[in-house]
Amino acid sequence: MDNRPIGIFDSGIGGLTVLKEIAEQLPHEDIIYFGDTARIPYGTKSRETIIKYAFQCIKFLLSKNVKAIVIACNTASALAYEEALQAFDVPILGVIQPGAKATINKTKNNKIGVIGTTATINSDAYQSSIRSLNKSAEVIGIACPLFVQIVEDGWEDTDVALITAEKYLMELKEHNVDTLVLGCTHYPILRYTLSKVMGEKVSLVNPAFETAKEIKNLLKQKDLLTDTTDKPIYNYYVSDDPEKFRRIGGNIMNKNIVSIEKVDIETL
Ligand code: DGL
Repeated sequence: MDNRPIGIFDSGIGGLTVLKEIAEQLPHEDIIYFGDTARIPYGTKSRETIIKYAFQCIKFLLSKNVKAIVIACNTASALAYEEALQAFDVPILGVIQPGAKATINKTKNNKIGVIGTTATINSDAYQSSIRSLNKSAEVIGIACPLFVQIVEDGWEDTDVALITAEKYLMELKEHNVDTLVLGCTHYPILRYTLSKVMGEKVSLVNPAFETAKEIKNLLKQKDLLTDTTDKPIYNYYVSDDPEKFRRIGGNIMNKNIVSIEKVDIETL
């Protein structure tokens, strides 16, 4: 057993959707969350920049003595996961493989849509991961960069969100996909609008749920689960204004974010 915290990072607040699932499935684990709010979005950046940013986030979390790291950001998972595994000697989990696995269990007609940032979709990480698990799967990836801004501005239930979703998802509807991977931390917050556009017969896959299951298994396997039953401690760090994170993040978490601090990530 190991009572040190789990480290989670994302480019911003979106990774709280992953933290929430982990907190639910591992209710006694302490968590250190880092949101790189000064440098969001990662999804429009180059591979080199995304790897550099992800490594800095990992170094920061390691400086807080975490026992394992979850890359909550889909973009960083798609572009920097393999490199991180090579570079750091700590258990690391991304969201792509767990998300791909969840998809395979859901589809009936083998037509799967994946939506994510431009970098995630262009990397082909989800598409190839799904195809490696199911050779006959037809996977269509669509980049939906505007969704991040819509969620950041709290517009997820507006007409703007609906019209944008109709435009982005048209091709997936034409292809008759029966499963849609929400391949970006922000998209579970748009779930209602996405489901309205795709229709209720289409299963929406949130990789966060499967990721939480996998981190639990990984910690168990490596004998790293905590043995305390105390109320867990969550410490949050950001690279930009903590107050915005406290406000919007509190809404996502449905509870007050108490311990939050700004850090200078560029120096790592
Ligand atoms: N967190 C990112 C992801 O899941 C979305 C926001 C960004 O572009 O940084 O891909």
